[in-house]
Amino acid sequence: MGGYGDVQMIDEDGKRVDGRGPGDLRPIEIEVGVVPVADGSASIRWGANYAIATVYGPMEAHPRKISRQERAVLDVRYNMAPFSTTDRMRPGFNRRSREISKVTSDALESVVQLELYPRSKIRVEIEVLCAEAGTRCVGLTAASVALADAGIPMTDMVVSVASGKINGVVVCDLNKEEDNYGEADLPMGVLPNTGDLVFLQMDGDLSPEEFQQAWDYNVNAAQAVHEIMVAALADRYGGGE
Ligand code: CDP
Repeated sequence: MGGYGDVQMIDEDGKRVDGRGPGDLRPIEIEVGVVPVADGSASIRWGANYAIATVYGPMEAHPRKISRQERAVLDVRYNMAPFSTTDRMRPGFNRRSREISKVTSDALESVVQLELYPRSKIRVEIEVLCAEAGTRCVGLTAASVALADAGIPMTDMVVSVASGKINGVVVCDLNKEEDNYGEADLPMGVLPNTGDLVFLQMDGDLSPEEFQQAWDYNVNAAQAVHEIMVAALADRYGGGE
């Protein structure tokens, strides 16, 4: 979030640099079962973002100290590949990937029925292969599909979208330039069936009206993304969720 108000990213007709209108999502494609050795997996292309999520488990919780008597624990790891950005990322965990792993885990804990698997662990790994803004949302969305593919019972799937503000205009699903030079970024994770919110972060400033608009964009976009998630699962299994 650079906050450079002088970088023009939206024209007088409301068209963004990539041709989208303010409320439009980038193109999204999801494929289920792309890592056959995993218990569940999904790949997602979202604009130029490309990520793969895998799920292993439930399995016995190791090391023992993380084990919980009454429920399973989620072991979530988000990582950006060194080649996923123009500046080579240093391989391995850093503060940002730890933070994103933590908020992803917290969001998924809201839906995964952990109490069904005492003393177990479910491992969720998200690998970002190409990053173009919104990767925490892309990864969280892919992880939900991978968990469904693994047959892990969930009360809903988490769908995540980041809207924000560029040149004083609230827009849906920020791309890289908009994320870098825009004035605000509001990633959210919602449950499409209930409308419940399970994840929210905010960077920059939004007025109450702008916040409401970004919120509405995220909630509406989540319904559209959810349809793509369900269609991808139906493609694999020939049915619904
Ligand atoms: O990806 P997300 O928007 O969830 O997180 P961010 O920290 O706001 O990063 C925005 C974007 O900046 C990423 O999607 C990447 O395209 C880029 N980025 C990067 O190139 N190198 C980093 N070390 C971190 C982010």
